[in-house]
Amino acid sequence: MGAADHDVIIVGAGAAGLMCAATAGYRGRRVRVIDHAPQAGRKILMSGGGRCNFTHMNTSPAHFLSDNPGFCISALKRFTARDFFELVERHGIDWVEKSPGQLFCVDSSRPILDMLLTECEWAGVDISLKTSVTGIERQAEGFRLHTSAGPMQCASLVVASGGLSIPTMGATGFGYDVARQFGLPVLPTRAGLVPFTLQPALKASLSPLSGLSLPVSVACGGQRFTEPMLITHRGLSGPAMLQISSYWQPGETLAIDLLPGSEDLAEQLAAQRQAHPSARLETFFSGVWPRRFAQWFCEAQGWTHDWQQCSQVTLASIAQTVSGWQVKPGGTEGYRTAEVTLGGVDTRAISSRTFEARDVPGLYFIGEVLDVTGQLGGHNFQWAWSSGWCAGQFV
Ligand code: FDA
Repeated sequence: MGAADHDVIIVGAGAAGLMCAATAGYRGRRVRVIDHAPQAGRKILMSGGGRCNFTHMNTSPAHFLSDNPGFCISALKRFTARDFFELVERHGIDWVEKSPGQLFCVDSSRPILDMLLTECEWAGVDISLKTSVTGIERQAEGFRLHTSAGPMQCASLVVASGGLSIPTMGATGFGYDVARQFGLPVLPTRAGLVPFTLQPALKASLSPLSGLSLPVSVACGGQRFTEPMLITHRGLSGPAMLQISSYWQPGETLAIDLLPGSEDLAEQLAAQRQAHPSARLETFFSGVWPRRFAQWFCEAQGWTHDWQQCSQVTLASIAQTVSGWQVKPGGTEGYRTAEVTLGGVDTRAISSRTFEARDVPGLYFIGEVLDVTGQLGGHNFQWAWSSGWCAGQFV
């Protein structure tokens, strides 16, 4: 083999690709990682609001969406959140637990990327940035790649090129094209963990409140998330909306409980009527929501009267509206701002043990390019680490 030849070529110097590269390098495999971007791991750097939510200690298959839900079980068991956490600890990276199990870097995501690059260096991995792959040919043994840096050969080819979200960060459909080239099925993709846009009338009316956040419990598609909701000048965002967006289908309506945990709301409202008959409804809601939201909501619902004007039926209807505000999004912001891509390479065509395509020996798919998508909270990186590490044992 010549200088351009490696045992393993990995396309994508992101989370999964770098983890796989270091793992295979430590096994003595000659590994090259190729990325068309000018910098490795750009999504790691921008993740978690710049502080990389690098894992969730309680991650489980239940935190993932996939058409083949059992596929992720094996890898998550073999390289766990604790395994990644131990690596982080060995590199002396400071971390903070934001909510139970959800681990972030203290100041910046940079140490996580530096850790992966250090591991790759120690494992003898070559990394070629600003290099694009223009063609792939299967050979008697392995693959021949045409790249902007010339031809390259490898025994194992790993596709770790991620999903379609944030095209400005280098996201492409490369992995899906490779899958199709080799006859592997690709399931339809759509944006996940993404803010909602609203129908024009609601958008115009809500946008003056942009920046306001309140705790809600949102339900759709058989899922419910109780987290903050953020009003933006385009629509609805915040953890609650990002989470439910992965389960939402166009045309569906969200049911938003604006006072989560208030099961006896009708009784509470009756007590208000009793205690403050001449107070306006808005006064009560200003005590439980941001004042400007309370004003807007009461006006939008026509609740401009005082409590003594509310019949029992009206109270029940107010309670129902507050605990199940119906919002039909116009759509989502799409791949431009989505954190992840749902769908992708059908995992039925991939071994859950090795990550090799069942019918194409030597071809591997790892990370987000596969039809495995985590909920918000560090699960997506854990999938990248677990799938990358497991494939790294076999490539
Ligand atoms: P990843 O996208 O990391 O890497 C793919 C690499 O392939 C890129 O470097 C890209 O340039 C390269 N590539 C693509 N096409 C190519 C081509 N044609 N030729 C060569 N190279 C190509 N998750 C989480 O768990 N915690 C968090 O805090 C966040 N935060 C977050 C914020 C934002 C804004 C986004 C967009 C995403 C997150 N995520 C997240 C999700 C997380 O970033 C994502 O799931 C992983 O990065 C996926 O890892 P991969 O290695 O599969 O793809």
